[in-house]
This record gives sequence, C-alpha cells and structure tokens, in this order.
Amino acid sequence: MRLDDVVSRANEITKELSSVVLGYEEESRLLLAALLANGHVLLEGVPGVAKTTMARALARLLGLGEDLVKIGEVPYKGFSRIQFTPDLMPSDITGSLVFNPITREFEPKFGPVFAYVVLADEINRAVPRTQSALLEAMQERQVTIGGSTYPLEVRRKGKFFFVIATQNPVEQEGTYPLPEAQLDRFLMKIVVDYPRSLEVEKRIYRLHMDRITEPLEDLEPIVGPQWVVEAQEYIAKHVKVSEESLEYATRIIRATRPSVFEPVARFFELGASPRAGIALIRAAKALAALRGSEVVELEDVETALFPVLNHRLMPSLERIVEEGLRGERHIARYKVIREGLEFVKKSVSL
Ligand SMILES: Nc1ncnc2c1ncn2[C@@H]1O[C@H](COP(=O)(O)OP(=O)(O)O)[C@@H](O)[C@H]1O
Ligand SMILES: [Mg+2]
Repeated sequence: MRLDDVVSRANEITKELSSVVLGYEEESRLLLAALLANGHVLLEGVPGVAKTTMARALARLLGLGEDLVKIGEVPYKGFSRIQFTPDLMPSDITGSLVFNPITREFEPKFGPVFAYVVLADEINRAVPRTQSALLEAMQERQVTIGGSTYPLEVRRKGKFFFVIATQNPVEQEGTYPLPEAQLDRFLMKIVVDYPRSLEVEKRIYRLHMDRITEPLEDLEPIVGPQWVVEAQEYIAKHVKVSEESLEYATRIIRATRPSVFEPVARFFELGASPRAGIALIRAAKALAALRGSEVVELEDVETALFPVLNHRLMPSLERIVEEGLRGERHIARYKVIREGLEFVKKSVSL
C-alpha cells in the first residue's frame, strides 16, 4: 500500500458518501478519519439528520452487508445494526451460551457485536448495564461468552472492528446519558447539526422527491475490509508527527486544564487527559493522510480538536447558564466548548 492508495480510495468514499448524505462533507471526512485511526465514533444529533444513513452508507461503500465471514469458529457479519431500547440486555449484544439438544452441549451464540461495522443506534436509550457491555467490547476488542474469549478484531485476516454509535443530545425521559468515563472510549464525537443552508436543505428534498427507496441502496462497494486494515497500518507506520505539531498538541492539551492554566477555568471545569492527547494525535495522523500528507501539520491538530475533545471536556456550568439557551442546553454546551478551545488556541503560541 502507498499513500496514494489511501488517498484516492478515501476520496472516492467521501465523494460517494456525500452523494447520499448531503451537506456533511466535513463530518463524513471525520468519520473516515476515525475509521482509519482504528477508533470508534459517536454521532450526536437530533432525530432525522441522517446519522443512521451515514453509518449504513459507509458500510456499503466498504463492501460490508449481511454476509457472514467465518474466521476460526466465529462467524462475523459485515454490518450489523443494534437498535438500543430500554429492554435490551447485555447478552443481546455480546451473545450467550445456548443448549443444543442434538449434541446435548452448550454452544456459543454470537451476538451482533461480532461484525466489522457495528451501528449502535440510539445508544442512550438502553440501560447502563447494556451500554457497558458494548463499551467494554469496544475497549477490549474481544468478548467472553460462557468462559471462552473470542476476538472482535483479527488484523492478519483483514478483520477490523468499528463501532458507530448514535445518540440524541436532547435528554428525554427514559434515556441514560453515557458517563464521561465511558465517552472516552470513542475516539471522536461528531456533531451532526441541521443542514447548514436553505440551498443544502432544498437539495436534500430534491434527492428524495422522485423516489420511494433510500438513495444509499444504489451505492456500490468501493473497497473491501482488507483495504481498511492496510490503510490503518500504513497510517500508523508511515505518517509522522513533526516536532512542531507535537509541541502544539501538547501545549493545547495542557492549556485545557484549569489546574495548569488558570484562565481556562472560565470555560472548562475539567480539562483533557493524556488519553485524550494520544487520541488527538492519532486522529490528526489520519486527517493528514486524508489530505495526502505523510506529515502531521498544525492544521490537522486543529481539525481534530473539537471532535476528539468535545466529549472529554467538562464545560463550565456557569458559562452554559450564561449562554442563556435554556431548552437547547446541548447547543450551549457545544458553544462553550468551541469558545474554550478557541481561547486555548489563541493562548498557546509556538
Ligand atoms: N443531509 C441529508 N442528505 C440526504 N438525506 C437526508 C439528509 N438528512 C436527512 N436525510 C434523510 O432523512 C431520513 C432520516 O435519516 P436518518 O438517517 O434515519 O436520521 P437519524 O438517524 O439522524 O435519525 C432518511 O431518509 C435520510 O435519507
Ligand atoms: Mg437514526
């Protein structure tokens, strides 16, 4: 694999994605960057803004559907969608032992998490115990069923593991927001807002106007899972971080911490951890590759900043209240984090 094989294919994927999910070029790029950095993604937005569509379209473009691929004794689905609901149990995600009356033995029944791309739809509607089952699987990249452990990632066989979870930022009754410590398992949280302009919104309606099926059903695969694994390895190995970018990223991370940089306390109650810093650099590397560069520049760090940090920083409640956007608290939250990160960028000089 060469950089050109990563870039040209990635560009085709983003182009096709933007033909069925209109107006989210930046978000699609981030989604692909997270995949190539071998991270997981949380898509946050109100219902009806094409979150599920984006995830399904990406899976199709990676050649992943309902088909099973057997590796060892485990059958993996290309793509599986888990609709999170209050009555979903941990074993509905991971699997369980079932009794086979013919062999008179217990056998593993593999849950929907055994897939290349897992869409965990409306993750905040399940109870915490069930959410934890998925988050643990994401972290460990393996699952234990009845005392035996099975891998979710088998790189030498081209098996990667990518979770796209979606959630509605408006906390309704019967939803369970993920705790900060668990949100950390997502490399990025990508905010999917309403269409940016009247023109984009009209294009969306035009796309759907003369058809009754979903446009994504017309998409043809561009690559296969082997490409994903190879592109991930290529980026990890060959994309370098310049001394200047490393210095910049480190200064930014430190400046988000009120205990290190007191003035930032106006925006953040809690700053970013070293784990967040590692994630920032990993994401910046994938973004550099997508730009066609083998070196991470300051702009890559800046592009990764909001999606990598927004779910890991605790914004100041006081600032959120000052924003005075009651009713749309989540928007006030994004605003405070954006402001805080702008302030941090300005305060950090190289
Ligand atoms: N930006 C967009 N471009 C194309 N179609 C869109 C867009 N936003 C919404 N839609 C359409 O609206 C419907 C709802 O999308 P969906 O992915 O189910 O939303 P969500 O998962 O965010 O609730 C789908 O038919 C989708 O194709
Ligand atoms: Mg949806």
